[in-house]
Amino acid sequence: MPVSTSESAYDRRRLRQWLAGEARADGVARRDMLRLLAAAGLASGGALPAFAAPAFAAPTNTTAPGIVKPLPDDRFTVRGTNAESKFASFAGTGYHTPADRFFVRNHTSTPVLDAADWRLTVHGAGLRGGPVDLTLRDLKRLPAVTRTAFVECAGNGRSFFTSQQGQPVSGTAWTLGAIGTASWRGVRLADVLRRAGLHRRAVDVLPRGLDPDYVTADGTNLGRVRRPLPLSKALDDVLLAYEMNGEPLPYDHGFPVRVVVPSWIGIASVKWVGDIEVADQPLYSPWNTDFYRLFGAAYPEGGSAPLSRQTVKSAWELDWDAALDARVAHRLTGRSWSGAGGVVRVEVSTDGGASWRRARLHDTPRRHGWVRWSTDWRPSAPGSYTLLARATDSAGRTQPDTTVPNTQGYLFDAVVRHPVRAV
Ligand code: MTE
Repeated sequence: MPVSTSESAYDRRRLRQWLAGEARADGVARRDMLRLLAAAGLASGGALPAFAAPAFAAPTNTTAPGIVKPLPDDRFTVRGTNAESKFASFAGTGYHTPADRFFVRNHTSTPVLDAADWRLTVHGAGLRGGPVDLTLRDLKRLPAVTRTAFVECAGNGRSFFTSQQGQPVSGTAWTLGAIGTASWRGVRLADVLRRAGLHRRAVDVLPRGLDPDYVTADGTNLGRVRRPLPLSKALDDVLLAYEMNGEPLPYDHGFPVRVVVPSWIGIASVKWVGDIEVADQPLYSPWNTDFYRLFGAAYPEGGSAPLSRQTVKSAWELDWDAALDARVAHRLTGRSWSGAGGVVRVEVSTDGGASWRRARLHDTPRRHGWVRWSTDWRPSAPGSYTLLARATDSAGRTQPDTTVPNTQGYLFDAVVRHPVRAV
């Protein structure tokens, strides 16, 4: 049975705590919070009364509890402890999502860590020897690799289960902006595991974050965010990244080091990694048992297998209900991606699905990344229109009209109906 928790209830509770000045009760140490505030430019120096800084008296849509970076409302929609990117703000930004537009998904809050104090401990019965500690400098001495990969929340698109399919689901009501694609630089997890002395009996690898414990809405403390990876994936293409788009990782995205698991659901890409257990037997955590499996009528009682690869999706770089001039030619743009291979074809409809045509692709299909596309459209008269985009990936998967529901609203892959107005 899934535990009775809902991300959105949790998010609402955290927001209430924040407003009441009681957020620390949920495990955020005052010291961390003060550093966090300072890093966000919110503390003006001198002694700060606990959570009484005027900056918190009137939160605006440009801050979110526990997120360090600014969240201007033309780029982000704040959803509890998370910030969703506005897809319209990706227009013209290039292939890689700038860090100042990249979504943030935090179970609790961003810890502001000091790179000089940071250590990665690799330990467990799947190693030949004892625990191994690495500093950031140690990591940087290993061969560096750079890889482009998206990070996408398993619940991206969740709100469409309800708005398009009439199905209630629990969790953060993302539209399509819980994704970003970056160039990540770091070291191969495989190199670190080998250096730590991998035993041939090793089975699972469990990275764990340094952010505060996650406490569910009913008060159950699930401990620090962690999710096991099978050794096969860990040795394949997983990175321990210390740079994002050529800069040190921003605090919110895992500074100083995060895991990046290309094409897998975002929870696999553990931020602020502090230790990695290497086990000689399968490992479990709530993040691969109660969460991030598919539960519901169409699935076995204990849920599906733990989720791994992402589905195929498309999004227009347009606001919801965007107003476009009627009888004027527009170049509309968007992006499509998949966890199973590069996107090879995108079809679009500007008449609610009555007719379809191919969009122009502006990138070569690429595993772990997205393709940008465009189509020209001249609304013939003022009125309401529905735009649709449907992608097919190199594995032959095409976005369906509907997605089989699951209670926690993961892996929505159906074609999204995007309303616009011609004025
Ligand atoms: N790692 C830690 N330590 N804590 C978290 O809350 N959230 C996960 C993952 N890694 C999370 C984490 C989830 S659910 C997602 S979708 C991605 O981080 C989001 O990465 P981003 O915030 O850099 O976009």
